[in-house]
Amino acid sequence: MLSSTCTAAVRGLSTTAQLFKINNVTVIGAGLMGSGIAQVSANAKLNVVVVDSNQSALDKAQKGIESSLQRVAKKKHADDAKAQTALVSSVLDRIKMSTNVSDSVKDADLVIEAIVENIDIKRKLFAEVEAAAKPTTLITTNTSSLRLADIGLNLKDKTRFGGLHFFNPVPMMKLLEVVRHNDTSDDTFQKLMEYGKAVGKTTVACKDTPGFIVNRLLVPYMFEALRLYERGDASMPDIDVAMKLGAGYPMGPFELSDYVGLDTCKFIMDGWHKQYPDEVAFKPSPLLDSLVDAGKTGRKSGEGFYKYK
Ligand code: 3HC
Repeated sequence: MLSSTCTAAVRGLSTTAQLFKINNVTVIGAGLMGSGIAQVSANAKLNVVVVDSNQSALDKAQKGIESSLQRVAKKKHADDAKAQTALVSSVLDRIKMSTNVSDSVKDADLVIEAIVENIDIKRKLFAEVEAAAKPTTLITTNTSSLRLADIGLNLKDKTRFGGLHFFNPVPMMKLLEVVRHNDTSDDTFQKLMEYGKAVGKTTVACKDTPGFIVNRLLVPYMFEALRLYERGDASMPDIDVAMKLGAGYPMGPFELSDYVGLDTCKFIMDGWHKQYPDEVAFKPSPLLDSLVDAGKTGRKSGEGFYKYK
């Protein structure tokens, strides 16, 4: 049973059958995903360092984590203000912030990269991480659309490399996709599955395929909604209402696209379209392109398909 440390019960899972511990997690990238991953890891009593080259991103992450924790604490200890404060501060105490990658990964048992989806920047970062980390450190990416084989191309030891794909908002979404590429060892994969369970997620396994499971289905669905609208078949609010009430989705496709970020949706689709130009499900959308060009990237910019206060 996992308790204060992520002590994986590898018994029965691994032929090597050694006991391992993940105590120290380093999350690289202090955006929305990195912050959420840091929060759920610290909430599972792991020691967390969040790294970002930008101090103001770290400050923003600190505030975001605090306010998310307050929401969690309010729910967990509805009528107990003291317990709420204790929960928030105990989790925050386990999270350190840093602008230095090499220093921050030195003691890490697990590194989770959640930076910009740029293959060259990621490769450069992973070279730095591998050089500074212990020879046993698990190195992972939270990429939403890039191939692990491409990201990890220059790693010397690819057996310790895998994917941990979380969903936004991380503290609320119960799923974690654990991704293995051709060189990920069974041992690494099992440890990543155990980490996922330790941070309270339901884990699913997936190969290194575009979009893994969720984005492979979700992103084409969001673009199909756009095509429905572009053809004039239905209005955006009606499509959103239809999918919420007719299919039981918590958000309609346009609400969800605004929530995820239109730039992110565009980035994912452009990458797939480039790789598979004949795949109709991966066709870009002129409307989405024009909104992103105009800086209307969804909730975070105050406007996307809808306007936000
Ligand atoms: N931290 C902590 N708690 C949060 C939170 C956060 N960031 N966001 C929401 N909550 C909590 C609220 O406190 C609230 O708690 P309560 O029920 O006790 O009051 C509860 O969640 C519901 O929140 P709201 O009332 O504000 O709003 P909703 O009922 O609409 O729920 C939602 C918000 C959980 C985001 C829900 O709309 C939802 O599940 N939407 C779909 C999200 C989704 O599909 N995400 C995946 C996107 S794809 C992705 O991430 C992959 C990437 O690679 C692109």
